[in-house]
Amino acid sequence: MTATTPAPTGASAAARPLPPQLLLGVATAAYQIEGATHRDGRADSIWDAFSRIPGAVVGGESGERACEHYDRYRDDVALMRELGVQVYRFSTSWARVQPDGRTANPAGLDFYRRLTDELLAAGITPWLTLYHWDLPQALQEVGGWPERDTALRFADYAADVHAALGDRIHHWTTLNEPWCSAFLGYLSGEHAPGEQNPQRALDAAHHLLLGHGLATQRLRSLDASLDLGITLNMTVADPVDPHDPADLDAARRIDAQHNRLFLDPIFRGAYPADLLDDLAARGLHLPVQEGDLAAIATPIDALGVNYYHGDAVSAHPPAAAPLSSAAPSERPKRSPFPAGDGIFTHPRGLPVTAMGWEVQPEGLTRLLRRIDAEYTRPAGVVLYVTENGAAYTDVPDAEGFVDDIERAEFVRLHVDAVVDAIEAGVDVRGYFYWSLLDNFEWAWGYDKRFGLVRVDYDSQSRTVKRSGRLYQAMIAGRSVAP
Ligand code: NOJ
Repeated sequence: MTATTPAPTGASAAARPLPPQLLLGVATAAYQIEGATHRDGRADSIWDAFSRIPGAVVGGESGERACEHYDRYRDDVALMRELGVQVYRFSTSWARVQPDGRTANPAGLDFYRRLTDELLAAGITPWLTLYHWDLPQALQEVGGWPERDTALRFADYAADVHAALGDRIHHWTTLNEPWCSAFLGYLSGEHAPGEQNPQRALDAAHHLLLGHGLATQRLRSLDASLDLGITLNMTVADPVDPHDPADLDAARRIDAQHNRLFLDPIFRGAYPADLLDDLAARGLHLPVQEGDLAAIATPIDALGVNYYHGDAVSAHPPAAAPLSSAAPSERPKRSPFPAGDGIFTHPRGLPVTAMGWEVQPEGLTRLLRRIDAEYTRPAGVVLYVTENGAAYTDVPDAEGFVDDIERAEFVRLHVDAVVDAIEAGVDVRGYFYWSLLDNFEWAWGYDKRFGLVRVDYDSQSRTVKRSGRLYQAMIAGRSVAP
């Protein structure tokens, strides 16, 4: 590994101190890094099955080998220790823990016990996510998330993981980005299981939220002292013309379907009335039964926000081709918004990442301020940025080092935006860069690299990029730019 000290990346002012409360960490997810998809009793998840569908994943790739983290986790923990990361957010694979979606697999749980012990020995706080998109295929075959029973199964799975790890892990996240699971998985079809049915997507969204509520209740009953939360991917939808009622309505609808569909039931125990009206107008509904909303609103301690970018939205098509981050699947595409008809995204001339996503750090400050004011502060809940990161076209030198000035600047700008929010009074306790390693980027396969550390997928060697060294220096110096 090259121990390069990064040059300042455009930061001219004196280094800005990091508030002491702000933990700096990194995040990953099981299917994206582990590999070993059929070792020690693990069975297929929906992503194993989806990856086999011709045209579903770029290059026909899958997580079968990924970063071989299952065998290399000790090296990866050593790497994190070298970078000085304070907290590591990872997920347990449901298909490894309960291969049939019901029965605990001791060998699978044992892997996460070994990983956790390695982290604790390295002085890194483990942060566990129970669901980062790898539903056991056995549960998909009996209906998947659109089926109510999946929510009940999820609470049982949470209890099995708690029985193995509850004595050593304090921070628990139920779901990662349920919007993606529901609407990319069951409406646009871009993600596993690849269905394209608006009503089933809404059924999935409700049952994901119900699963979150039931798992939270179960974990709380097992140990009242746990720190419990959920991670949502949030967007900032700005109307292209703030004086055009049609553009304002487009922004309202995106906010309703992306943000408030999840925030309102969790924090207010009700779905937004305007969203229900939009859905009813299209013959769609959320399959709420008595008691569901109370379960979903079970108090939590922490809200995780995953932020990548916002969008300028309009009821009118843009003059030029709109930005798109949809993977170039060969399968027919649909919008992931059940009430998103007649809404267009307009490019704003901001720099974009290799995903085509605009780089918009001030959107993160605005988002955190809004969630704090409207949802988390009144509920006494603290905020974490559980993911933020960027893919760029990395070019390694002969030693495998990547001089990724753009990613380093992306990190600096976004941590700076978090510090802006904290200075404005928002209670943000942590920032996790996505991701520690280059890894399997879902429908994009290995084509998109988000890591602070480069992975050479042939040799599996890891090389810290310039961005990784910058992050290391930020952590060591406790400042936004070293
Ligand atoms: C969000 C997801 O949680 C993660 O799995 C994914 O790799 C990143 N965004 C980047 O797209």
